[in-house]
Amino acid sequence: MTVTSLGLPTVFRPVGAAPASGPLIDTFGRVATDLRVSLTDRCNLRCTYCMPAEGLDWLATEQVLSTEELVRLLRIAVTRLGITNVRFTGGEPLLAKDLDRVIAATAALRPRPQIALTTNGVALHRRAQALAEAGLDRVNVSLDTVDATHFAAITRRDRLDDVIAGLAAAQRAGLRPVKVNAVLDPQTGRDDVVALLKFCLQHDYQLRVIEQMPLDAGHSWERGSVLTAAEILETLRGHFTLTPDTAPRGSAPAQLWRVDGGSATVGVIASVSEAFCAACDRTRLTADGQVRNCLFATRETDLRALLRDGSDDDAIEAAWRSAMWQKAAGHGINDPSFVQPARPMSAIGG
Ligand code: 5AD
Ligand code: SF4
Repeated sequence: MTVTSLGLPTVFRPVGAAPASGPLIDTFGRVATDLRVSLTDRCNLRCTYCMPAEGLDWLATEQVLSTEELVRLLRIAVTRLGITNVRFTGGEPLLAKDLDRVIAATAALRPRPQIALTTNGVALHRRAQALAEAGLDRVNVSLDTVDATHFAAITRRDRLDDVIAGLAAAQRAGLRPVKVNAVLDPQTGRDDVVALLKFCLQHDYQLRVIEQMPLDAGHSWERGSVLTAAEILETLRGHFTLTPDTAPRGSAPAQLWRVDGGSATVGVIASVSEAFCAACDRTRLTADGQVRNCLFATRETDLRALLRDGSDDDAIEAAWRSAMWQKAAGHGINDPSFVQPARPMSAIGG
């Protein structure tokens, strides 16, 4: 596939119906092998770039997929659609019921997918060992600063020590490499990222810094105020020597840099300024059973309705394939016509 400077694929396939079998493909020839499942829209933090202080109207219990419904969709994804990587997210996935059971059921599928979790880490110190035993392979912990005052300002909760304990517990439980996801605050981010990288180097965690995207519940994202990948790199270069990592990047969105000539790396994810949509291999499922073919999709496909009206696996598989077949070339954040999706990040999953 050729890629334009905007990171959009240029190869266009004839548009008809989605293929009935084979890989989970779209009309640009991209194949989805990575499934992100949002298990709940609830969260015990209130990060300013994600949620309002008072929280949101949570999904009602009956709207959320039951464990049985979810496990059925996971089986269809792995055994029929070729999904090889499953990541559980939220909201905060450690607040979802039956997480250990869902992970164990996923680990029992064949071919066994890789299983990862994106968590805010607040409750991880109590859960890491059991999650690893259930079959979890790796974690990404969201942590934007190691300064307790900044942490409380960003997340509106005073839980930094819990997150730090959670990271250590994940490392002890063998959920490696332990990755730290950071979204930088426009005001304190330049200081925070330097201290974060020092912290991660010291503890052998892999830092990945993510450009803030327009997915906040308040729709108050402003292009000019968020730190760009170039600004993040410039800041880090004031304190560390960064050399491009030569390992193949594949579909991984992070551009990796070696730090001070050692083996440690730092990743910078330029989701906005250098879109990587052309290499996207993701499909997403929300807690209420909607397939999203992109983080920024404005349409969803209702698999929950099919689950609850007695549809068979063939019908659910076909609906999922059709949803992915309609995937757009890119997120279009940089287009004048860009419309932010109605669901915030906490209801989509990162
Ligand atoms: N832009 C970029 N990343 C975000 N996350 C949450 N909201 C945003 C946003 N607006 C990140 C979280 C977490 C992952 C699920 O997504 O920090 O690491
Ligand atoms: Fe919770 Fe994650 Fe949103 Fe923060 S970014 S409020 S941790 S869902």
